[in-house]
Formats: sequence, C-alpha cells, structure tokens
Amino acid sequence: MSGRIRHRLEPPRWPTAEEAADSRLFSPVEIGPIHLTSRTWVPAMVPWRAEESGEVTDALLEWYGRFAEGRPGAIVVEATGIRDIPSGPLLRIGDDRFVEGLARLVDTVRERSGGRTRLFIQLIDFLTVKRRPPPEKFLSRFLRITPRHRERLSTRDARDFSAASEDEVRARLVAGDDDDWRAVLSPREYEDLTYGYRERVTDLHLPHVRALPETLPPLFAAAAARAERAGFDGVELHFAHAYTMSSFLSRTNDRDDGYGGSRGARVRLPLEVYAAARAALSDGVALGCRFLSDEVIAGGSRVEDAAYYATRFAEAGMDFLSLSKGGKFDDAKIPRVGHAVYPYTGPSGHECMPTIYSDERGPLGRHLPLTKHIRDAVRAAGFATPVVAAGALNTFDLAEGAIADGACDVVAAARQSLADPDWWEKMRQGRGEEVRCCALTNYCEGLDQQHKQVTCRLWDRDFSAGDEPMRSWDGKRRLVAPPWR
Ligand SMILES: Cc1cc2nc3c(=O)[nH]c(=O)nc-3n(C[C@H](O)[C@H](O)[C@H](O)COP(=O)(O)O)c2cc1C
Ligand code: SF4
Repeated sequence: MSGRIRHRLEPPRWPTAEEAADSRLFSPVEIGPIHLTSRTWVPAMVPWRAEESGEVTDALLEWYGRFAEGRPGAIVVEATGIRDIPSGPLLRIGDDRFVEGLARLVDTVRERSGGRTRLFIQLIDFLTVKRRPPPEKFLSRFLRITPRHRERLSTRDARDFSAASEDEVRARLVAGDDDDWRAVLSPREYEDLTYGYRERVTDLHLPHVRALPETLPPLFAAAAARAERAGFDGVELHFAHAYTMSSFLSRTNDRDDGYGGSRGARVRLPLEVYAAARAALSDGVALGCRFLSDEVIAGGSRVEDAAYYATRFAEAGMDFLSLSKGGKFDDAKIPRVGHAVYPYTGPSGHECMPTIYSDERGPLGRHLPLTKHIRDAVRAAGFATPVVAAGALNTFDLAEGAIADGACDVVAAARQSLADPDWWEKMRQGRGEEVRCCALTNYCEGLDQQHKQVTCRLWDRDFSAGDEPMRSWDGKRRLVAPPWR
C-alpha cells in the first residue's frame, strides 16, 4: 500500500442498553439450521495453544471459554487441520482420536456462555511450506543441477561448465552472490532460495498435488463428520487466505485438468468439497465457508470473482458466506534465514488485518464496500444466504451501520474480541465505556507469525485484575484476558 499514515483512533461512541436492545446487531439471525441470538461473531484465530500432537489443551479450553463469556452469537474455532499429519501446535481433526478433546471444547463454550453462543469450527488444508534455507545448504544440497545451470554459468563466466562435475557447479554457485543466483537459477528456484520451498496447487508434476481433487473432498467430509460428533453447531470450510482451497479459487490458478483457468473451473473443487462435507453432515449442522472478497495480489481474484463464487456457493446451498480479504504468500516479505514465509507481511496481509498504519481511508471497515458488492450479487441472484464481514469492525456504530447498509448480516470481530472478549456483553449492557479498545497495532499477529502463544498487549497493562491467570512459558504474559470486574 502506498503512502501509509499513522491514524489516531478516536474514542468510540457506545450505545445505551436500550439502543443495543433495539439494534440490528443484537437481533437474532438464522444460519441455516442454527439460531444465533445476535449477529455477533468471533472469527477463527489460531492461538498456538494446541499440543504438538494437535490435541486440545487446558489452555485452549480457557482461550475459548474466555471468548464465550462475552456471549457472542457464534465463535469459530481456529483453522483446524483435516489431515492426520504432524503440524506443530496447530489444532487437528484428521482422526477420530481428536473428537474427545474437541467435544470438551464444545462443552466449555456451552457452559461459559450460559448456552447463548453457538460453536463452529474452521477446517483447513494447506500445502508444504519450508523454512528459508541458508544459501550454502540450498545450493549444495537441495538444488537439482540441470543443463540450464551449466549453460547459464558458462555464459556468465565465459568458461565451459558443460562437462564440469556437479560438485564443481555447486561450488561455483555457493561462491556466487545474489546477482549470480538471479541470473543462473530459474525464477522458481530463486524463490525457493530466498523464501523457502513452497508447494502450489499448480505443481501438477507432484502426484499428490495433481490428486488434490480426488483426495480433498473425502478428507474435508471426514473432518466435518467428526466436528458433528464432537457437538459443533457448524462447520466453516477454509477457502480463504494463503491455503490450498483459496489457491484453487485464485485467478492465478491455471491448472489444466478442469480445476483451474476459468472461474467455473476454479470454483469446481470448492463446490465438490462442499458437496462432500454436506453429505457427511446431518441437517442440524450449519455448513458454510470463508473466502476472499479480493486477493489483493497482482493477477489475483477481484471482487467480481468473489461475487461469482458467492452466488455459486449460495446456489449450492451453503448456510453462510464469511468474507475476508488478502493474506497471501505471493506478496509476503522475504523471511529471515531459518524462518518460514508468513502470508500477512505484505500489502495483502495488511488488508487482511488492517492496522493504524494505513492509507487515507484508515483501517476501520475497509472490507465493507466489497462485502456489500458481494452480498448485493447474492441477493440479486435470489438467495438470502447470510454474509459475515470482518476487518476492523471495532465499534458499535460501524457494526450496526454495516448491517443497516446491507454490507453484511453478521459482524465478525477478531482482534477487538481478543483485546476484550467481554466487549459484546459490555455493549449489550450499555457499559461500552468499559471496553478495552484494540489498538490495531498487531502485536498479536507478530506472535502468530512466530508461532508463539497469541496474547494481547493490552492484557498485561491491566495490573488491577487481581487474578492468577495462566501465563506464557516465560511467565511474562497473561494467556487469558483479565476478568471483567
Ligand atoms: C492471531 C490471529 C490468528 C488468526 N487466525 C485465523 C485463522 O485461523 N483463520 C482465519 O480465517 N483467519 C484468521 N485470522 C484472521 C481473523 O479471523 C480476521 O479475519 C482478521 O483478524 C481481521 O479481522 P479483525 O480486524 O476483526 O481482527 C487470524 C487473525 C489473528 C489476529
Ligand atoms: S495485541 Fe494489539 S492489535 Fe492485537 S488485539 Fe491487542 S490491541 Fe489489538
């Protein structure tokens, strides 16, 4: 984004209890078979609190329990891996052994919200992303030496490398500099060197990537069935950000096997995944997806693509459409050696989680013109599917205005709910002055980037909480928001 300005967040106006009671925000809405008592929603946020084995922990129960105390209409549990593969402390649902822990999560949210909050779970698939390697390691071990390297080195050095041993070629590359690597490596190899190896859905030379249209629908379906067995009210298919399903929807997807190229081909696998998951669920469970209103990358999908996808999803019978924006690998910053590329560091990442360092429009409500366009398209096509919007919707007036203007039916707030999980209840009770307002500076996102337990910077400034909270491993940070006194 060009010309970032540091914005000052004005103290918001808060409603009285009567105004909140009469508001659209605090009116009920049906998400397919599921009744929400209000149009308030905590979207998926990975807190890095699961076991290394992907199981639910006490810290995770506490994380969701604390959100439940604010009694939003719905909480969506973080992106949860559908495969039974080691994924670090990322929550998983790729085997029946995960059901028991997830059922405890459901019980915790029921109990701590007094039965008012419905619980959804976000199902994710992702492809391999490796850490950025040290150049010597990449050039001497990972790079596959091809005739092209020999040819280019020969031109560059005016010396014949055609018969040189592989060790000689590698030694020459290791001794080289960035200019040499740019000139000699293919663009993809250079990217693997500077960002770390990353699989794409367009890597059809990889058999497991070519087979995704066959492997993913049953994996999502099995995960959805487990979510129902654990007692979840709804399932959100993760078709957003930098991950597999979003990459199928992307305009950059040029697969030539009927699952890339045209819009109709790009939406094919997401629709097949939806159909498989739907068939695995009973009628009482809501099923929808989260996808992007705009990818915010060069050559990526724009709002017209998203409006088309939304209409196709609604036509297929999805119970809700949750919209996000950006958050792609394609424009992410180069990571440090030994670190993995993080999809929220570039311009598309800023659009996903806007901060006070923004352009003249400022961070608040930036997604709404797009969500309105998409919702209008869905309504024009004759569907009443509820649309969930996010993106710095941190005040009552913004949230209420978004629903009144037809930009969405349900308001999602991630970071504001993290800063103060009670903020929904404080607004509802006319006690908005007590809300701990999110500063939109993304300390929490920085922790997510490092796969550290996510917390809010503001929590540790509240010294009067008087409780003994769970703490991060170094004892320095609260792991739970201070209680509302
Ligand atoms: C720490 C953190 C983790 C997140 N994890 C997820 C995730 O698992 N799935 C997802 O769809 N979005 C994720 N998001 C994005 C949020 O759901 C939300 O779309 C984004 O923060 C913008 O909303 P906000 O301005 O209300 O924070 C995450 C955001 C944060 C801050
Ligand atoms: S850490 Fe900063 S951006 Fe994140 S929730 Fe807290 S105040 Fe908001």
